[in-house]
Amino acid sequence: MKNIEKQIFNYLSKHLTHKRFEHSCNVATLARELASKHNVDALKAQIAGLLHDCAKCMSNDEFVGLFNGRRKTFKHFSKIVKFSPNLLHSFAGEIVAKEKFKINDKDILNAIKNHTQGRSKMSVLEKIVFVADFVSNDRKMRYVKKLQNLAKQNLDKAFFEVLTKKIEHVISEGIILLPQTVDTWNWYVSNNKKNK
Ligand SMILES: [Fe+2]
Ligand SMILES: [Fe+2]
Repeated sequence: MKNIEKQIFNYLSKHLTHKRFEHSCNVATLARELASKHNVDALKAQIAGLLHDCAKCMSNDEFVGLFNGRRKTFKHFSKIVKFSPNLLHSFAGEIVAKEKFKINDKDILNAIKNHTQGRSKMSVLEKIVFVADFVSNDRKMRYVKKLQNLAKQNLDKAFFEVLTKKIEHVISEGIILLPQTVDTWNWYVSNNKKNK
C-alpha cells in the first residue's frame, strides 16, 4: 500500500463513523473498477473515492470554522448552513484533501468537491466518483447492481440516471437544490442534445 493511502486510512478511521468508513472503502473499490473500464488512472480513482466523504462527520460548527474567510466564493452559504449543512461536506472534503494530505491534483480535488452536486464540464473521474458514491456496495436501493453494471458499460448513461435520481430526491423531500446541480443538469442535457 502506498504511503498516502496509509495516511488516508488512518485519518478516515479516526474521523468517520464505522459505517461511513466502510462506505468510503466501497466507493474507492468501485471507483477503481470503473476507472480501469474507462481508461482513468486507478490510483487517482482510489484516492478520490477514499477521500470523497472525509469531511462527512464534521459538525456544523466545524464546517463554519473551515469555511471562515472563504465564504465569498460560496453561493447561498448561510442558507445551506441553516437548512442543509450536509451539502457542505463535499466542499469541505476538498479543503481537507488539499490541506491535510497535500493533494494538488485538480482532477482528484474536483472529484471530491463535486461528488454530491456535480458541476458543468465534469471529467470522467468526477463522473466515476459521483456514480460510485451513489451505487457503492453498501447502498441498499434495489437498482444498485443494475446501475453498477450500466456504469461499467456506459458511464454517461449511469451518470445521468444518478443525477436524475438525486434531483428527484431533492424535489420530493423539499430540500435545498444547489445551483451547481442545476448547472450540471443543463450542461449534461444540452451537451447530449448537441451530440444527437
Ligand atoms: Fe458524500
Ligand atoms: Fe459518499
